[in-house]
Amino acid sequence: MGWLVTLTLILCTCHAEAAAEEDRSRQPERLSSLTEELLRIAREPDFLGWLRSVRRRIHENPELAFQEFNTSQLVRSELDSLGIQYTWPVAETGVVGSIGSGSQPWFGLRADMDALPIQEMVEWEHKSKNKGRMHACGHDAHVAMLLGAAKLLKLKHGDIKVNHLHKLQSVYSTPEKGTVKLVFQPGEESRAGAYHMLQTGALDNIQAMFGLHVAPEMPVGSIGSRPGTFLAGSGRFLASVKGIGGHAARPQDTRDPVVAASFIILALQQIISRETDPLQAGVISVGFVEGGRAENVIPETVKLGGTFRSTTAEGLDDLRQRIRVVVEGQAAVHRCSGSVDFMMETMRPYPPTVNHREMYGHAKLVGEALLGESNVTLLPPIMGAEDFSFYSQKMNAAFFMIGARTTKVGPRPVEPLHSPRLVIDEDVLPVGAALHAAVAISYLDAGGVAAAAE
Ligand SMILES: *[C@@H]1O[C@H](CO)[C@@H](O)[C@H](O)[C@H]1NC(C)=O
Ligand SMILES: *[C@@H]1O[C@H](CO)[C@@H](O)[C@H](O)[C@H]1NC(C)=O
Ligand SMILES: [Zn+2]
Ligand SMILES: [Zn+2]
Repeated sequence: MGWLVTLTLILCTCHAEAAAEEDRSRQPERLSSLTEELLRIAREPDFLGWLRSVRRRIHENPELAFQEFNTSQLVRSELDSLGIQYTWPVAETGVVGSIGSGSQPWFGLRADMDALPIQEMVEWEHKSKNKGRMHACGHDAHVAMLLGAAKLLKLKHGDIKVNHLHKLQSVYSTPEKGTVKLVFQPGEESRAGAYHMLQTGALDNIQAMFGLHVAPEMPVGSIGSRPGTFLAGSGRFLASVKGIGGHAARPQDTRDPVVAASFIILALQQIISRETDPLQAGVISVGFVEGGRAENVIPETVKLGGTFRSTTAEGLDDLRQRIRVVVEGQAAVHRCSGSVDFMMETMRPYPPTVNHREMYGHAKLVGEALLGESNVTLLPPIMGAEDFSFYSQKMNAAFFMIGARTTKVGPRPVEPLHSPRLVIDEDVLPVGAALHAAVAISYLDAGGVAAAAE
């Protein structure tokens, strides 16, 4: 009997292999029909109008990190109208929606919800209504794109009735094959919202994750990223230099913290220019100095703060140690005392964002099917940081920039992220929604990242 079983096994295996082979050979055309369909639907006037209205409502009501209560409410009410179940609250204001069978594999799509403490300086109909708050990092667009993906996935699931929209025709049968988790997180800006989402355990069974960030300098219809390390790791420091204050005419009676702080600032720059391998990227920037109020008084203390960045975790640790030594040592040289706070809890350092090679390859392939090969670019590493990095430490993750350049001109050719004059082209919204949905659907359809990247 043994040989019969073996023979049957061989025959079955051959058959399965042949089917898989056929599947693979049809993959490019399946992918292009899927992406074409998703983008066409997302660009239909009704769908696009809804995407815009979602983004504009969020843009008008920006909320800071971990205070995204109304934004979270808006996300939940949109998920409710789509009939999508969700867990809430996750890390205060976070929402994790779920589409599909509920079974493994689980694939995550991520959007961040927080705004910045910036006063918007763009005059337009949907200008921020909250004084000193602005979606100047495009997270309003991120939420809209992810809700757009949710709607596309739900259409694909075939159980919502939207008459004016075509039901998806393509051959993909997901998300029945697994589950798409829609991760709306709080506090990306400085507050490590992603870390706190992970701490709750709500994302424990997610195997892979995809995230997008708008790029105001890249044209709409283009995306870019790179395999491996893409964004820097980043930390913050707050230094305090304490001396003895007194009359500016009698420096001999004082211990001047202003001069000590000046030496500290210069010495910090030598860490990068003299200690860091010139071929390894590193940054130390002092962003503020605070001390004294009068021209003729030497103050008792000076505070200064800044950020340090590196493309490796070790590099970040080295900089942290050296910043401490330099602050304390330079203060001592000037008979002052120096201390540094790295705010490890409140301003938790972000590790570098490292794109998983296969996951990157998968997203790139889907992006090429959606936008054409020439619209998917290999970007150089960027010294900006993102808390998406916490996901990239835990699961197979890929993070891409998505072009949102507007033709509206401000004082500069392109207003960068975090500018009070940032304007993005809302035509990015359907592209992002379709890309999110296509990356998730094709991932689940292939049964995981390795298969998807083949
Ligand atoms: C949140 O919504 C409430 C009720 O609509 C409103 O009163 C409040 O101003 C909103 N808060 C922010 C920060 O937008
Ligand atoms: C690809 O980029 C070109 C040039 O920027 C643009 O005209 C085209 O619309 C893009 N393709 C898609 C599908 O968006
Ligand atoms: Zn930002
Ligand atoms: Zn951002």
